[in-house]
Amino acid sequence: MKRIAICTGGGDCPGLNATIRSVVKSARGTHGWQVFGVIESINGLLSMPPRCRELGLQDVTSILTLGGTIISTSNTGSPFSDAERTQQSIKVLKDNFRNLGLDALIVVGGEGTQSIAALLGEAGVPIIGIPKTIDRDLPGSDETIGFHTAVDVAADAAVRLQTTAESHDRIMILEVMGRHTGYIALHAGLAGAANVILIPEIPFSYDAVIKKIMERKALGRCFSLIVVAEGAYEQGHSPAYQVSVEGRELLGGISSSLSTRLYEATGIQTRVTVLGHTQRGGSPSVYDRNIATAFGCRAVELIKAKRYGRMVVMQQGEIRDIELSSAAEGKFAYVDINNNPYLKSAEAIGTCLGRNLNFSTEDN
Ligand code: F6P
Repeated sequence: MKRIAICTGGGDCPGLNATIRSVVKSARGTHGWQVFGVIESINGLLSMPPRCRELGLQDVTSILTLGGTIISTSNTGSPFSDAERTQQSIKVLKDNFRNLGLDALIVVGGEGTQSIAALLGEAGVPIIGIPKTIDRDLPGSDETIGFHTAVDVAADAAVRLQTTAESHDRIMILEVMGRHTGYIALHAGLAGAANVILIPEIPFSYDAVIKKIMERKALGRCFSLIVVAEGAYEQGHSPAYQVSVEGRELLGGISSSLSTRLYEATGIQTRVTVLGHTQRGGSPSVYDRNIATAFGCRAVELIKAKRYGRMVVMQQGEIRDIELSSAAEGKFAYVDINNNPYLKSAEAIGTCLGRNLNFSTEDN
């Protein structure tokens, strides 16, 4: 009988509990293995004694649709921040691993967590990664757990803001998450009928945005809806940061500069909504529940086949696995501004992407 552990790292998102349930049901229920949940990400395996608890089938009953993570998570204070701490952390983790009699560890996380997992894999820890992040910015996977729910929440907010935009003849600005990528803004903006979508991959021109708003006004549509990614920024400038927390710079604030500039330029009343963590909370969408379940089962299959150092991914509609080392810190998957079909469709239906007519992609 194998003994395996699972941890969830980085920011929480909808679908983490669905993943834990899938792993427990297939590993424990189907194969009869013992499963341990590591508390507070990999940190639980760096404490002496380790912080983890056995997860039985009863522990995962009714958690498929539950938001957050029953084994908690962390996205601050990495114990792998420098070479010395990394060596110490690897040693402690390996000791704990041996003392707990573990055969493998499943790590559910985004870019930061998966790069730590890759490092542990290289140090000889039998490890499997499962990609999650609402930002959908992990290279190698077309889907990440949590993204679709975040888009649903943001698209719903966009549709609700249309009401006030139209009733009051206002510019309504919705700022969404996504770090340095624009997937949430693009998908939610398209589904929420935004007139302007601004993403970090296309530094925007105020002229282009103002032109769009004034064209609409000339047609008798004195309202506009703008969906802006938190990482979007004006051409020639840098992204806006709201605070720095324990060494992490948190993006935010672009919507308020947009609001001021657009009101000054158009004279149209402008209001801002920053959606924030509502995008990460609550029940996972049907899509996220199902990929979480499929990813969890694949991770267990990989352990059964002793194929360690792999990350489960979705590619072209198929569940596959790739080298965990392809997830390296600071490597992101960006919206392809030349070939993304949703971006092309948005422009084809007249949505302003903040591109200046004279703006070439080389300037990006
Ligand atoms: O990576 C997920 C994410 O929600 C980003 O979209 C956002 O920039 C960041 O995390 C917020 O982090 P925190 O939860 O620490 O405020």
